[in-house]
Amino acid sequence: MNANINSASPSEPPGSASSQNLDPVNWEERYRAGDTPWDEGYAAPGLTEFLERHPILGEILVPGSGPGHDVRALAAQGKGVRVLGLDLSPTAVRLAESFPRAGGEAYEVGDLFHLPPSWSEGFDWVVEHTCFCAIPPEARADYVRAIERVLKPGGRYFAVFYLNPAAPKGPPHGVSREEIDHLFHARFRLLEEWRPVGAFEGREGRELCQVRQKVEKTVSP
Ligand SMILES: C[S@@+](CC[C@H](N)C(=O)[O-])C[C@H]1O[C@@H](n2cnc3c(N)ncnc32)[C@H](O)[C@@H]1O
Repeated sequence: MNANINSASPSEPPGSASSQNLDPVNWEERYRAGDTPWDEGYAAPGLTEFLERHPILGEILVPGSGPGHDVRALAAQGKGVRVLGLDLSPTAVRLAESFPRAGGEAYEVGDLFHLPPSWSEGFDWVVEHTCFCAIPPEARADYVRAIERVLKPGGRYFAVFYLNPAAPKGPPHGVSREEIDHLFHARFRLLEEWRPVGAFEGREGRELCQVRQKVEKTVSP
């Protein structure tokens, strides 16, 4: 993955939810102000638990990677891993880059909803943690399309979903298991699902982990 997403032209059709820039949160401002309560200082426990029993190898994209703790946990697996953390906020990317390197990781400033065509089918895995719950719920269908587009045929998606955050008004925005299935099932086959044992304080019992695989499109005869 050598694409420079900053020089790319938007790939979303005009009028789609993401192209209307629905997100009311100024993420860059939040990082500049140090107003980042989601930053617990280490990788998502649900991800760490999964990595203890199953490697995530190849080209990996982490959207909304923030300070990069999940990126570094993935990169620390060693050889055979190239992880790209993507975030809207340049300050978040600089913060992520300030940590000691864990392995084959890199970071880019960019918008998941405006990825360049050259990223299409570029990744073996997408690893999700608190990006899905950060975006406006109206943009979720676009999120699923963006993930599908960047994954190689048969590529896999690992997610720690935050189901019902304590704050009534997001972000983080809650989601039900039914809505996740409704959003993903046509494009991603569910391979595995479980409740993580560990969680950040306050998120206990509120998370759901899933592994999904991109569904191959069938060509009609
Ligand atoms: C709640 S924070 C979580 C950050 C990181 N995953 C963590 O757990 O520390 C959400 C992150 O998503 C990023 N983000 C929001 N919308 C995005 C988009 N459309 N494309 C890329 N990053 C985005 C924000 O800048 C922020 O860093």
